[in-house]
Amino acid sequence: MPRILLLGGSGILGLEVLRILQNEHLEYVAPISTDLDIRDKDQLFRFVSELKPEWIINCAAWTNVDGAESSFEEATEINTKAVGNIGIAADLFGYKVVHISTDYVFDGETSEPYSEISSAHPLNKYGETKLQGETALLAVLPSAYVIRTSWLYGISGKNFVKTIAGKALRSEEAKVVDDQIGSPTSARDLASGILSILRIQPEPGIYNYSSSGSCSWFELAQKIYEIVGAHQALVQPISSNSLNSLTKRPKFSLLSKEKWISAGLSEVPNWEDSLQLMLPEIISESR
Ligand SMILES: NC(=O)c1ccc[n+]([C@@H]2O[C@H](COP(=O)([O-])OP(=O)(O)OC[C@H]3O[C@@H](n4cnc5c(N)ncnc54)[C@H](OP(=O)(O)O)[C@@H]3O)[C@@H](O)[C@H]2O)c1
Repeated sequence: MPRILLLGGSGILGLEVLRILQNEHLEYVAPISTDLDIRDKDQLFRFVSELKPEWIINCAAWTNVDGAESSFEEATEINTKAVGNIGIAADLFGYKVVHISTDYVFDGETSEPYSEISSAHPLNKYGETKLQGETALLAVLPSAYVIRTSWLYGISGKNFVKTIAGKALRSEEAKVVDDQIGSPTSARDLASGILSILRIQPEPGIYNYSSSGSCSWFELAQKIYEIVGAHQALVQPISSNSLNSLTKRPKFSLLSKEKWISAGLSEVPNWEDSLQLMLPEIISESR
């Protein structure tokens, strides 16, 4: 396997990619954001021209969905401009790119899973910056791979599964929205998926990847309470409207994995199976 540059290796997803790179003894470099700030085009170009990676895996992003509403410029720097620059650098030096995007490029006004060619129409600024990032990348580097995923959770960083597991362990109440439907996705499963792209090198372009099956955030929280052995009655359903959030989120963001499966890429496990496997590790790492 060739030399890999991993960006965002300290994040929820990046940490799982890093684990695989280490476990499989692959040749990689994973600079932290203070060593390589992807917003700095000169630094980025210098870094990649010296390193000469065959692949760039970009897990770096502005992921604060609510924060992007008030800090649109800052989010754009990372999610759009830097991604375009990664594409320009990769094109210039002949590197391949895998970039991660989101189900939040869609508005959720459907009841059918979104395919890679469904029209994107983000409801919030974060989704806008991510959609523009995909476009910027593919415009300069049509050979790039863009993986759209959803509801990521893992060991590192702040994420819903970790937060709710903490509440369940403390037998606290959790009020959780029951009117947004999606697929919780284990960062570990997606990390294997990214590596399968490197191995198989299917047709370039956009690919959806999330767990199979679907649930609401409320059902996900209930499942976490069940696995932890806490009373499920402590989880109460609420509506998105009751949160009075200024950030709109899609009510339905299921992603079709047909293209992924047809390309012979990695397994697409059921969300409940993956959660069952990951939760004990998430809990023990948070202690
Ligand atoms: N989390 C989700 O539910 C979700 C859902 C769908 C799609 N996604 C997408 O999946 C990908 C991974 O998300 P994640 O949840 O793993 O993200 P995350 O945990 O928030 O991690 C983000 C990573 O980006 C790095 N980063 C941020 N700004 C940077 C900069 N200017 N230069 C270099 N690195 C920078 C961070 O490094 P520092 O910590 O050092 O700043 C961190 O390693 C993203 O593209 C995200 O949009 C996430």
